[in-house]
This record gives sequence, structure tokens and C-alpha cells, in this order.
Amino acid sequence: MRTQNMTRRSLLASGSAAAAMLLAACGSARNQEQAAPEADEAQKVEAAPTEDASQAEAAPQQSAQGKILVAYYSRAGENYGNGGTEWLEVGHTKVMAGYITEALGADEYEIVPAQAYPEGYDACCDQAKQEQADDARPAIANPLPDVSGYDVVLIGCPIWWGDEPMIIRTFIEGVDLSGKTVVPFTTHGGSGLGSVPSNLQAAIPGASFLDGLAVAGTSVDGAQDEVVSWAKGLALA
Ligand SMILES: Cc1cc2nc3c(=O)[nH]c(=O)nc-3n(C[C@H](O)[C@H](O)[C@H](O)COP(=O)(O)O)c2cc1C
Repeated sequence: MRTQNMTRRSLLASGSAAAAMLLAACGSARNQEQAAPEADEAQKVEAAPTEDASQAEAAPQQSAQGKILVAYYSRAGENYGNGGTEWLEVGHTKVMAGYITEALGADEYEIVPAQAYPEGYDACCDQAKQEQADDARPAIANPLPDVSGYDVVLIGCPIWWGDEPMIIRTFIEGVDLSGKTVVPFTTHGGSGLGSVPSNLQAAIPGASFLDGLAVAGTSVDGAQDEVVSWAKGLALA
């Protein structure tokens, strides 16, 4: 389809990282039977949807092994992999976040957009690009977590056009992460961590950072051991 080709060509033109994504993209759709296990419901930071993330804050829950929060954005729906489109019932980053949450006994907070991103891959690419151009701060539907009780916050997202989705900016500007240890993680189609570590460091003054982990989205189903090993090896104390 022409629009798909245009969008993928545009991604390709945006840099070698995106080119790598297009060339390296491979994998299969994750259907409901294959969906990775969700983290323990009891560990999740529960919060009722609101129209404005600034309206309320969810109460923190202390994790079993320390005060660690895994916050992430992930998008289900149409994605691009293996040279074609695939349909994800569960987003790649959500799967990775689940591995980390379980490994660390952490609490989990999923960033839910007030306006869902398009399920269609090309439409999402267009919107993501526009949001970057506009330096947008897309609203978050669910109340932000009260991060005051956490020492460590892992922030996960897909790579979009080399960077984090702009809704990650909404999140990090909505909570006070100064004095915390922040650890990025991403899933991607070839860009690795992209500009996420440097962007987060610039946007979160007063935090200390540990090296992040990037997993190719299409490999995430087989990456649990790698992710768990990385998470457990983090110098969090
Ligand atoms: C709008 C959009 C832009 C993307 N841009 C890139 C990119 O620049 N580099 C890259 O490696 N992957 C890119 N990807 C691929 C995603 O990073 C990858 O599929 C990721 O695993 C998706 O995670 P999710 O399922 O948690 O949303 C892009 C995907 C979308 C939807």
C-alpha cells in the first residue's frame, strides 16, 4: 500500500537506526494464546481512569524487595515485523515490563493514553511524528502514581522515530523523580535504546541513572532470561 510504503520510507530516511528497524524487523504476531504472563495483579498500582492525569494520584504500593516501580507505555495493535505487518494483542514493551516487575518484585504502572494511539501502524507513525514535531504532551488517562515512596523507577517504552513516545514526557514531567535512580528500558525494531537515555537524563534533573536495556520487540517473547538477568544485576542498592 502506498501510504504504508511512504511511512516506512520516511522512517528509513529518518536515520540508520530506523533503517535498522526496518531491515531487522522480524517476528510473529502475538495472539492471545501466546500472550506473556501478566504481572501479579496485586503488585500493580491500581488507579481509576480520569480525564486528566493531574487530578489525582494513585497510592504507592511497596514492592517485596524494595521500593521499585516499573512504569511503561506500550501499544497493542498493528505493528511491523518480519517484513510485514503483525497484530499484537499485548505490546512488546508490556511483555518486557512484566518480566522486570516479576523479577524485581516491583510495582507496576502502565501509562494509558487519554486518547488511544491508532491501532493502525501507519496512522500511529504519522501521529507519533507529528507529536514529536509539536513537542506534544499527550494526556494520560489514569492517575499518576505517587512516586514519593520509590527509590528506583524503571521507565519503559517502545522506540518511536528514534526517541520515546511523547507521552513518556508527560509522565516524567508529571511526577517528581529527582533523587531517584532511573533506569530506562525499551523495545525496538533496530534502534536499541535510541535517544531515550540521553533524553531522560536531560528531562529529569537530580536523578541518577543506570544503564538501560533494549530488546528487539520481535524477540521479546524469548528474552525473559536476558531481561531477568539484567534486572537482577542492576546495582539498585
Ligand atoms: C510510531 C512508531 C515508530 C517507530 N519507530 C521506530 C524507530 O525509530 N526505531 C526502531 O527501532 N523501531 C521503531 N518502531 C518499532 C517499535 O519500537 C517496536 O515495534 C516496539 O517493540 C513496539 O513496542 P510496543 O509493542 O510496546 O509498542 C516504531 C514503531 C511505531 C509504531
